[in-house]
Amino acid sequence: MGIYTTLRPLLFRLPPETAHALTLKALALAGRILPQRTPDDHILACTVMGKNFSNPIGLAAGFDKNGEVMGGVLKLGFGFTEIGTLTPVPQQGNPQPRVFRLPAQEAVINRLGFNNLGHVAAYHKLSLFRARMARRGESALIGVNIGANKTAEDRISDYEKGAVRFAQLADYLTVNISSPNTPGLRDLQALPHVTEIVARVRAAAPDTPLLIKIAPDLDMDEALAIADMALAKNVDGLIVSNTTIDHQAVLSARHGDEEGGLSGQPLFAASTAMLSEIYPLTRGKLALVGVGGIATPEHAYAKICAGADLVQLYTGLIYNGPWVIGKLRRGLAELLRRDGFENVAAATGSDHR
Ligand SMILES: Cc1cc2nc3c(=O)[nH]c(=O)nc-3n(C[C@H](O)[C@H](O)[C@H](O)COP(=O)(O)O)c2cc1C
Repeated sequence: MGIYTTLRPLLFRLPPETAHALTLKALALAGRILPQRTPDDHILACTVMGKNFSNPIGLAAGFDKNGEVMGGVLKLGFGFTEIGTLTPVPQQGNPQPRVFRLPAQEAVINRLGFNNLGHVAAYHKLSLFRARMARRGESALIGVNIGANKTAEDRISDYEKGAVRFAQLADYLTVNISSPNTPGLRDLQALPHVTEIVARVRAAAPDTPLLIKIAPDLDMDEALAIADMALAKNVDGLIVSNTTIDHQAVLSARHGDEEGGLSGQPLFAASTAMLSEIYPLTRGKLALVGVGGIATPEHAYAKICAGADLVQLYTGLIYNGPWVIGKLRRGLAELLRRDGFENVAAATGSDHR
């Protein structure tokens, strides 16, 4: 863990959102002063949704909601980053406190409620960042996660607005219908609603890869129905999964009964099991992004063998610090070689063979 062994107790003395704000400041600085990162081991390279990733490990949505630290995040070694969730109009989210650490479980409960600066602010940040990268001849893979304002009268049209706004700038769009922190949002996972969202977003952004992010709390039948619809309607993939509202595993912990979505270690098994159920149905026809409880190379590898083409993490970063990404890159390359895989794609879904 290195320097983070010293830093973590200090950060953990601060309220989670203060620590996060400080981390964002440090990453903004890191983006400016850190040298280019070391190139990725070629065994980690993969092509997913027609995009070339130098490694399959991404930063999950919610960490850099407004696209403020994309350069710093990518310099840490992530293969891609996903900004958002962004709503058309800025909103403050729920009253604080609304983020809780559960250190013994390496977990977090959050009920932020899509606090973000809105489409316009993020659009400007992302266009400036893209222009800067282009001037330097560099490239960056950035997904944009879109959602709906809490008070929107027509939530579905908020997704369409996101697609219109970010179609040209995003490497992929994620339709987030699985946050537990906007009342009623998860109801959009019902098949008629999600089908309409997909139709409207697809029409607004026909050439931008499209992912749907689902909740681990869906019945398996519901998840499989969404996967079926995604296959039929030309969706590029699924992100499995968002946080869970099932707090059973942490009820004895301090804060374990706080309302909100649970992430980190207690989410690993359920989100990986869901991935593993979906893969046999989609088998390479949909890209699958495995998220939930990744903190070690073994975790990332397990998601890939269960069916993930790409993986993402957020909570693992809070408990293990920014150096975890270097460990994940090195460790994943070792695991692939140990088991005789030529690349990530060869290992994807290998549990099912
Ligand atoms: C504090 C916090 C805020 C989050 N905000 C978002 C968000 O805005 N949109 C989203 O799609 N997911 C959000 N997530 C969910 C993560 O992207 C991820 O799906 C989930 O935390 C599981 O991964 P993890 O166990 O690696 O954290 C958030 C998670 C946390 C911990």
